[in-house]
Amino acid sequence: MALSEDFLLELKQRNDIESVVSSYVNIKRGGRNPKGLCPFHNEKTPSFTLYPENGSFYCFGCGTGGDVIRFIRLIENLDYIDAVKFLADRSGMQMPQEGYDDSAAKLKRTIYAINRETARFFHTALKSPVGQEAYNYLRSRGLTDRTIVHFGLGYAPDSWSDLCDHLRKKGYTDEQMLVAGVAFKSRNGKVLDRFRARTMFPILDVRGNVIAFGGRRMKEEDSAKYINTADTPVFKKSHNVYALNFAKGHAAKRLILCEGYMDVIALHQAGFENAVAPLGTAFTEEQAMLLSRYTDEVVVTMDADGAGQKATERALTILTKAGIKARVIHIPDGKDPDEFMKKNGREGPTKFSALLEGAANDTEYRLFRAAQGLDLSVDRDRVAYLEKAADILAELTSSVEVDVYAGRIADQCGIAKEALISSVKRKGADYRRKQQARQAKTVTAPVRTDGINPKRPRFARAANAEEGLLAVLMRNPDFVPKVAGAISPQDFITDFNRKVYEELLRRAKDNASFDLTLMGSAFTGEELGRLVHIQAMGQQRENSLEECALCHQIMKEEQLKASLSQVGDDSDEDYIQKMTELAKNKNRGVTEP
Ligand code: UTP
Ligand code: MN
Repeated sequence: MALSEDFLLELKQRNDIESVVSSYVNIKRGGRNPKGLCPFHNEKTPSFTLYPENGSFYCFGCGTGGDVIRFIRLIENLDYIDAVKFLADRSGMQMPQEGYDDSAAKLKRTIYAINRETARFFHTALKSPVGQEAYNYLRSRGLTDRTIVHFGLGYAPDSWSDLCDHLRKKGYTDEQMLVAGVAFKSRNGKVLDRFRARTMFPILDVRGNVIAFGGRRMKEEDSAKYINTADTPVFKKSHNVYALNFAKGHAAKRLILCEGYMDVIALHQAGFENAVAPLGTAFTEEQAMLLSRYTDEVVVTMDADGAGQKATERALTILTKAGIKARVIHIPDGKDPDEFMKKNGREGPTKFSALLEGAANDTEYRLFRAAQGLDLSVDRDRVAYLEKAADILAELTSSVEVDVYAGRIADQCGIAKEALISSVKRKGADYRRKQQARQAKTVTAPVRTDGINPKRPRFARAANAEEGLLAVLMRNPDFVPKVAGAISPQDFITDFNRKVYEELLRRAKDNASFDLTLMGSAFTGEELGRLVHIQAMGQQRENSLEECALCHQIMKEEQLKASLSQVGDDSDEDYIQKMTELAKNKNRGVTEP
């Protein structure tokens, strides 16, 4: 069951894209399309574009796009139905009594409620006699009462059913507890508490919902040090970070990325409320994208062990790719920020601030890495280090920067700065030449992948023509019956564009509207974004059947070319026939039936 089209169209009309987006994004008018800084990734020049004529948005930076409902889903992190309700509320419309399925949204609401109740239960336990040991443990690790309350820390009693019994009394079913991930099913079918005898860390999303838990063992002999909620309908550990609900309000200058729950808590307690951590996995691209919504600089401070080194390098690579400026702090005393704060007592915050200010930038970190394992008092090691250092400096574009680093390295190694600089220059010319060659190569052989329309990169000319055709058709629904006879779905090389065309044919036959919001049900959110992109790119195209014919002709040409390149060992006759067809085709286009 779906919402009625009339309802959706009115909803869309009453919530025009520009006024809705304006409450989240500073929109600048001027030019054909209003623009602003994209709220879905971090950028300095506006590529987030509005299309009032069809009520859509598209970001040319990150490729996110869609209609007003998708915008609200993304920015408010809501399900489809809840986004519709949100917009209905906003514009004073009544939701229809029935006719839509909000079971997914309802399930999520139930999970949030169970999680909240569970967090409350754990927190109460921590403050009661059963939680005495855990409470003492947290205090002995230096946490104040205020911090314990602020983070909602708790204790999962050493029992198989305390929590489940409690939740049952509150009216939740076993099924619901299982989906929420606070319970598990034993081999003989019993539903039991998932967390037992552990200090509990509730994990909140940026809207303040409790979405999951981490639990730390109390005794060294217990199996895993931490266990975390597995993925649920409201939680994906690779997509969330710990404490962003607090840190997002302090992220303007930068965020601090550390390794664990305890590091984050120790830093917040010390006044660094911009600290966050991944959730028991290596740092992911999705997490970097999430951070990039709030800041453009991240300081990484991982544990000072081998695993921490690897984690640092991984984080640097991923952050840089997400357009975030990444820097590194090495903790001098102790293995992580938590121990650092503990060791330094009252001086901890000041000392950590100093580390933050002096945090090494990427170059500095790479130089630091290059020196590792080498003894700079040994000639051979020194030569090896200088060689690597010259490689690193060769990638810099600012000669001032080169001069600064070269000076420092020269001092460090007891050589003349000029010698190093001339070696850097030589390598620099080399490096840039190689880079140019690489770039030239990527132009002639596009290797970019396209998740929505995989064949697109290989058949770019055909895809452009297909999309031009689709853009004109979406703007001119009355053209579709006119071209339907001449243009078959088989004329499309790329699968996604063919799917769109088929959808247009279907809708035209039913006399249905081409409105993006109504077509939404046939496409995923990402596909909807692509549709907007196709419409946006086709803005300049003429609204005529000739334009359609032109596109169609290119599609036919490209299709023949593609089949020619597959001829391979075919006979000469085959080849000649195809060539003839290609020539004939050049003089033929779409004609009105
Ligand atoms: P650490 O072992 O560094 O833990 O793991 P920590 O945060 O410093 O904790 P303390 O100080 O020993 O109490 C870093 C993070 O990796 C995840 C947790 O998120 C932890 O905070 N982790 C670690 C797990 O998910 N499972 C584990 O078994 C261990
Ligand atoms: Mn630790």
